[in-house]
Amino acid sequence: MTPLLELHGIHKRFGAVQALSDVRFEVRAGEVMALVGDNGAGKSTLIKIISGIYRADGGTIRWQGREVAIATPNDSTTLGIATVYQDLALCDNLDVVANLFLGREVAIPRGPLGVMDEVAMERRAVEVLRRLSVKIPSVRIPIASLSGGQRQSVAVARSVMGDNKVVMLDEPTAALGMAQTHEVLELIKRLRGQGLGVVLISHNLANVYEVADRITVLRLGRHVGTYEARSTTREQLIGFMTGAVPGGDELPTVSAGVTGARTEPA
Ligand SMILES: Nc1ncnc2c1ncn2[C@@H]1O[C@H](COP(=O)(O)OP(=O)(O)OP(=O)(O)O)[C@@H](O)[C@H]1O
Ligand SMILES: [Mg+2]
Repeated sequence: MTPLLELHGIHKRFGAVQALSDVRFEVRAGEVMALVGDNGAGKSTLIKIISGIYRADGGTIRWQGREVAIATPNDSTTLGIATVYQDLALCDNLDVVANLFLGREVAIPRGPLGVMDEVAMERRAVEVLRRLSVKIPSVRIPIASLSGGQRQSVAVARSVMGDNKVVMLDEPTAALGMAQTHEVLELIKRLRGQGLGVVLISHNLANVYEVADRITVLRLGRHVGTYEARSTTREQLIGFMTGAVPGGDELPTVSAGVTGARTEPA
């Protein structure tokens, strides 16, 4: 099965800092791929390259098997990649419907110019939130009156309003309590269930293990390895993240052949 998204040989330098060196990464449809690594490992930089905020200095990006250039956020969005950043970028004073449709309001085809079809938007908002089992008191209340978990859920729901195939979440549970974290993790599972590829960045390994199918580890801007979550222990993972365990693709836990793993004997 061709992955939705594949990156190979990605390099990115900021002045004297080599943020990423020869990094590879992939996401398949219907999987949660976690991206882990210590502070400064290069996770956000990689996500920003995929979302078109930064341009890689080198490397290739393939979308559904075809090489593509992602030079702007619009290129990424057009492919069907949505990114939810930690600051969420929701408008506190607008209601849930308005936030879900921000930038893609539904115009009445024959109506006066600039008039949005509020009824259609509300119907669609309710439908999407129901499909994702997001529970909020009303779609007509301002974002400011929602809990942190509900806001995060609205932000995630917004990312699937278009015809997106990959959703990337940078630390979606960092500011949330236990119940709210649970809500967001359940939402991530539902996105996977609907065939999306989900990229999850998290420092919380318990969260990672709860939802991830595979885990890519970065350390000091380098790709340590990509591992099946079910066959990698938390201790091994911490070892890979800190460098205490060298990692690498020769380990049996690696999904060989998929991550560009070396198959010849070392
Ligand atoms: N815009 C920038 N300008 C200069 N250096 C940058 C920039 N963005 C990132 N870096 C550097 O690149 C490296 C990787 O940073 P990045 O934010 O990708 O790490 P991260 O894995 O997301 O870390 P964290 O877990 O703390 O969020 C760091 O050394 C960081 O200081
Ligand atoms: Mg980061």
